[in-house]
Amino acid sequence: MKTPILETDRLILRPFNTADVQDVFCCWESDADVAKYMFWSSHNDIEKTKEWISFELEQISKNDWYRFAIVLKETNELIGTGLIYYEDEVSCWEIGYNLGKKYWGKGYTTEAMKEIIRFAVQELHVTEIVGRFAKENPNSGNVMQKLGFKYEKDIDYECNNGTIHRNGMQYRLYLKC
Ligand SMILES: CC(C)(COP(=O)(O)OP(=O)(O)OC[C@H]1O[C@@H](n2cnc3c(N)ncnc32)[C@H](O)[C@@H]1OP(=O)(O)O)[C@@H](O)C(=O)NCCC(=O)NCCS
Repeated sequence: MKTPILETDRLILRPFNTADVQDVFCCWESDADVAKYMFWSSHNDIEKTKEWISFELEQISKNDWYRFAIVLKETNELIGTGLIYYEDEVSCWEIGYNLGKKYWGKGYTTEAMKEIIRFAVQELHVTEIVGRFAKENPNSGNVMQKLGFKYEKDIDYECNNGTIHRNGMQYRLYLKC
């Protein structure tokens, strides 16, 4: 199924498009603070963001990858991204998310991910989802707890394309069909 457009009270969740490159680069890809605990590394060159968007455009029609641009309804600003995808490494669906720094602390991630999980349950019939995060990044763990995820185990958490290893946790959410 193609990545759809979803909506919450404050947000539009939509597939990315080529016109998003500059906003993605300025809002979060070029910010090392946002990238610190992510699997990816921050982009010091907008060409890398272009490559990232090209990759995401290829994923839009795939059945195991649903990435959404998070857009504020009120201002039409692109503020971050959330996704659910099938991760072979954990043999399960997994979530990921990040916002530009100036949008942290307003509840937007939880609001977006609740809707993405609703979509995954109702449309994709997903019954289990994993979330992994660094222990030094409790904000991410808080989001997962608010979504109903429960602690599963401690893990080695690889950040920045595997260049940094941190102590991490794996959480899991069990859903009813
Ligand atoms: C982790 C991250 C995505 C959290 O984003 P966020 O939008 O700030 O997270 P939340 O949805 O939990 O919102 C945070 C706070 O907003 C507050 N808030 C303010 N207005 C609110 C509103 N209208 N509704 C709900 N919450 C609101 C809440 O108090 C909430 O904190 P609390 O639940 O502890 O009280 C963000 O910090 C980030 O992008 N970090 C860098 C990337 C990253 O680490 N990603 C995860 C890697 S595993």
